[in-house]
Amino acid sequence: MRLPPALCTAIAAAAVACGLAAPVASAPVAASHGMVVSAHRLATEAGVDVLRRGGNAIDAAVAVGYALAVVYPVAGNLGGGGFMTIRFADGSSAFLDFRETAPAAATEGMYLDALGTPVPQASTRGHLAAGVPGSVAGLEHARERFGTLDGATLLAPAVALAEEGFVLEEDDAAMLVAAAPELARDPAAAAIYLVDGGPPASGARLVQRDLGATLRAVGREGAAGFYAGPVAAEIARASREGGGLIGIEDLAAYQVRERAPVSCDYRGFTVVSAPPPSSGGVTLCLLLNVLEGFPLATLGRDSADYVHLVAEAMRLAFVERNTRLGDPDFVANPVAQLLSDGYAALLRGRIDPARVTPSPAMLAPIDRGESPQTTHYSVVDEAGNAVAVTTTLNGAFGAKVVAGSTGVLLNNEMDDFTVKPGVPNLFGLVQGRANAIAPGKRPLSSMTPTVVTKDGALVLVVGSPGGPRIITTVLQVIVNLIDHGMTVSDAVAAPRLHHQWLPDVLFVESGRLSVTVAKALEARGHEVREGRPWGEAQAVLVGGPALVTPATDGARYFGAADPRGPLGAAVGY
Ligand code: GLY
Repeated sequence: MRLPPALCTAIAAAAVACGLAAPVASAPVAASHGMVVSAHRLATEAGVDVLRRGGNAIDAAVAVGYALAVVYPVAGNLGGGGFMTIRFADGSSAFLDFRETAPAAATEGMYLDALGTPVPQASTRGHLAAGVPGSVAGLEHARERFGTLDGATLLAPAVALAEEGFVLEEDDAAMLVAAAPELARDPAAAAIYLVDGGPPASGARLVQRDLGATLRAVGREGAAGFYAGPVAAEIARASREGGGLIGIEDLAAYQVRERAPVSCDYRGFTVVSAPPPSSGGVTLCLLLNVLEGFPLATLGRDSADYVHLVAEAMRLAFVERNTRLGDPDFVANPVAQLLSDGYAALLRGRIDPARVTPSPAMLAPIDRGESPQTTHYSVVDEAGNAVAVTTTLNGAFGAKVVAGSTGVLLNNEMDDFTVKPGVPNLFGLVQGRANAIAPGKRPLSSMTPTVVTKDGALVLVVGSPGGPRIITTVLQVIVNLIDHGMTVSDAVAAPRLHHQWLPDVLFVESGRLSVTVAKALEARGHEVREGRPWGEAQAVLVGGPALVTPATDGARYFGAADPRGPLGAAVGY
């Protein structure tokens, strides 16, 4: 058994099962009417069923989101938040921000002790780590604004999966094995996910009656079924008793934001992605703008010159990402400046083709490895509407606490704020004041749900988990398709590289570099660190299995579930 990336950081022992072998691509899944790709087959099937019954891509995405909350508790959620990028068949687009917010009682130094030192685990574990959840508001907003089917219909698959349960496959069970010691510390979580204090075996049926009742309340009352009434009262009670800050007023005040997506052009394609409070779209576009000035296809993705340029571009882009972006309701984000041609040229000019430009040695962040407990799904319908959703609890199983009798796992998204400037977070990200904690503020994210078009036609829907590696994962899928002519499956499976400024390390997946190229990079000053695979991109390519390969047999949509995630599935019809 190979553990999914979501588990590989959960316990050290899991690393053995994570393997270092390069992921192997299978052929893209072809279909002519619609396609859903998600991290769990049962959720994918819930979405495809909605499409078959005449629902549009937004309806299907809502059904997938609720189903993931049941069958993929490591990251799917009601108690977290996320972003939805929509590209409608008429060419218009929309972006929904349902990121968690800091509770009203949150303060900038809330995770620091009297000496100003971060208190271990205070921002990552337990009720105090949780932001006010946004997922239910986001899914309900999407359904009401852009969907065609009623809530009870879209929630029905999730309710059935929760109340009747589903049989745990080996890879489902492995997630619970990895998280069991932490889940055991919370009686509400242990009662749901553990059997006699230990993880259930594969083949067991996971029934989540409390979660089913909460889903039913949402099906009856919409978002009010979660943000008001008995569910909200129970979340607030559990938070109070658990030392958290989420009050009933915080839940009542939660608001989805519709924002203008970020967009940019790359070699004749248009990329539409997530604006702040995600750093995803801005950093992705900054990277694409810088890389457009280099002949990537000619250099060849396996050359030292290529890897050096891409890594240096990532280093420079992450300086901007980590220091200058935050919740646009609280700080002014220099998006226009960062995405200008002049800025791309400036950064390009800072890249020395022969040597690294070392990141400042102002501190030595710990490499905490990847912490990819986020999930992405991509949906396209018959009419050509496309939806990209990335949603998260932040860490695996979030804060590892369930909100009382609601059955809802809570996020630990507060750790995405700058707990203290200069101190690395769960992802090793060293961030600045723009992302400081404030009441009602949304923590800076890296989630990058993205849609790509060309000449007004839909081309690609893509996204991934992976913390900051989300951005570089999405970047590499796009570049693999556009510059290297890969099939969508190969573009998703191809081994990746990642640099995030600090730590000053070039991370590479096994199989990405030959020994010769790794040595050549070290000679230029890179600290190259090879590790296990990361991310779990879920993509739909439109028109052919590759951009350069026309479709046959009338197929229009080509889905690729990342082979790094053993439970994921692309299903079309
Ligand atoms: N919690 C991961 C992210 O939003 O980037």
